[in-house]
Amino acid sequence: MTAASAPGKIILFGEHAVVSGIPALGGAIDLRAKVTIDHLPGRTLIEAGDLMLKGFSIDLISGQLTSAGAANATRYVSAVLKEFEARDLRVKVESDLPAASGLGSSAAIVVAATAALNEHMNLGLSRKDIASQAHRIEKAVQQGLGSPMDTALATFGGYLQVSSDIRPLDLPQLEMVVGCSGWAHDTRSEVEKVQSLLVRHAEIVGPIFQAIGAISTKGVHLLRELDLQGLGELMNINQGLLEAVGVGTRELSELVYAARGAGAWGAKLTGAGGGGCMIALPPPQGSSGVAMAMRQAKGRAFAVQTGCEGVRLEGCS
Ligand code: MEV
Repeated sequence: MTAASAPGKIILFGEHAVVSGIPALGGAIDLRAKVTIDHLPGRTLIEAGDLMLKGFSIDLISGQLTSAGAANATRYVSAVLKEFEARDLRVKVESDLPAASGLGSSAAIVVAATAALNEHMNLGLSRKDIASQAHRIEKAVQQGLGSPMDTALATFGGYLQVSSDIRPLDLPQLEMVVGCSGWAHDTRSEVEKVQSLLVRHAEIVGPIFQAIGAISTKGVHLLRELDLQGLGELMNINQGLLEAVGVGTRELSELVYAARGAGAWGAKLTGAGGGGCMIALPPPQGSSGVAMAMRQAKGRAFAVQTGCEGVRLEGCS
C-alpha cells in the first residue's frame, strides 16, 4: 500500500491580474488531499469517501456517481491512472478541501495521486516532473484551463510568486481563516468576464491591475517583516479592487465584513471569486472569534496555516 498527500492553496494577492502577467502571491495551506493506492487484481476501483461528503465508492466499470465532489475527484484520479497506464488498483481519495471553491482541491488530488503512483509503480519522477505532469493532467481535465500555480504549490508547498514565471519565496508561515461561501464558482466564466471588462475599459481596468500588482509586490515585503497591520490593509484594498472588476458576491462580502467586524486585520476573496472562498488575517487574540463571526454569517470557516509543506509520502493507516 502506498499513500501520498498534497496541500491546497490560497491566493494572498493578485488573482485575475495574474492572467495579464502581473505578479500574484500564493501559499500552500495545511488542508490536504490524500491518495492511497493498493493492489486490486482484475479491477480498478476509485473510492472518494471522505471529501467532507457521504462516503461511497465508484467502480470504473459500472460507474455509479452520487455527488459532485466525489465525481470530480474520480475524474482527476482517472486521468492520472490513464496517463500512467495504471490498472489493477484500489485508489482511495480523502480530502479536507472543499471542491470547486478555489482552494486547489483538484490540483492537490492530481499531485497526490501522481506522487503515490510514482512510488507504487517506481516511475522515477522527480518533484519537478510531478509538478509538470500534474499541471498537464489538471489542465487537460479542465479543457485547457488551469494556471500552474495550484499544481506547483501542491507539489513544492511554501509560497510562490507567479507572473510570467513561477518563483518560490522563502516567507514565514501565517495563520489565516478561510471562509467558504458554499457557492461553487466557475473560474473560466469569472476569468472571461474580467478579461472582457479589461478589453472594453482597458484605460480603467489596466491601472486597477497595476495597483493589484503593486499590492502583490509590497505584500511580499510586508509578509517577510510579519507586518500584519500592513498586510491586512493590502488585503482590504485588493478586495476593493476585485469588487471593482466584478468578481465579488453578496455572500463573500458578508463573510469579509463579518471577519473585519470581529477584528481581522484584513479580509478578501481568494481565487476567481463569483462564489468560492475568502480569507481573513486574524488579530493577535487568535482566529476563533473571526471564525465564529464567519460561521454566523453562514460561511464554513477553517483556521489554516499558510506556507505549508508540499507533497509527501504518508504512512498508511
Ligand atoms: C483562480 O484561482 C485565479 C485566477 O487568477 C485565474 C488564474 O490565475 O488562472 C482568477
